[in-house]
Amino acid sequence: MRVIIETTADDVSRRGANFMAALVRRKPACVLGLATGGTPLGVYAELIRLHREDGLDFSQVTTFNLDEYVGLAATHQQSYRCFMQSNLFDHVNLAPAKTHVPDGRALDFHTHCRQYEQRIQDAGGIDLQLLGIGSDGHIAFNEPGSSLGSRTRLKTLASETVRDNARFFGGEDQVPRLAITMGVGTILESRQCLLLAMGKGKAAAVRSTIEGPVTAQVTASALQLHRDVIIVVDEDAGGWLSRRDYYAEVEHAQSLLESGQFRALGIGNQ
Ligand code: F6R
Repeated sequence: MRVIIETTADDVSRRGANFMAALVRRKPACVLGLATGGTPLGVYAELIRLHREDGLDFSQVTTFNLDEYVGLAATHQQSYRCFMQSNLFDHVNLAPAKTHVPDGRALDFHTHCRQYEQRIQDAGGIDLQLLGIGSDGHIAFNEPGSSLGSRTRLKTLASETVRDNARFFGGEDQVPRLAITMGVGTILESRQCLLLAMGKGKAAAVRSTIEGPVTAQVTASALQLHRDVIIVVDEDAGGWLSRRDYYAEVEHAQSLLESGQFRALGIGNQ
């Protein structure tokens, strides 16, 4: 796992957006996995800026969102479809038919979930999956205890998640109790995962994810099994990491390698 500790939340957003923009430039017909919630807001704002000011072109990009609340129509203000429209899709040149969010009003959930997985396969798989993390360590809505091999399915929200998300609904009693979510197994099949976290409230979950054991009790810890994961956190979210110095050293060596400063790394000195 590559762990990058940035100073502020804005730095995390910019760094995250830059990884995504670099992929879109390198592979214009790429498949992006997207997340909702507070975490990716700055990333989407930066992608919109790059589209407007630098001509970042999304016309060939396909997207798949991680999850959607059950029972909310796409037009409901708190639906994740609505979130994506207003925070990204309406402001860049993504083809509407290439944006996918699970349908919270699907009548046959089982079939809908299977078809969602199939659409990801048909699109060639996800190149880069953007992830936030819940304070209980979840990725997507894979709450503690979710199978690490799980696929897209219905999931009951944990009380911690209901509490965390009540801020968007104006009260806990308004938060839907069920969601359709990609599974941990679905996420692990993405070619690259990019997890972002900001703020003190995520510090414990970030530490468990990176430095704890792989466990279904912290589904983000399954990322330890993935071969290409980047985790970008701010000082607050990374505050409980015990190997901060090492992560910084790795990043320093990486930037020397990328800029061709091999002698500074002791390469070719002998
Ligand atoms: C959202 C999602 C969730 C959030 C997580 C963090 O699509 O899948 O896992 O990423 O709950 O939420 P925020 O970013 O609001 O702290």
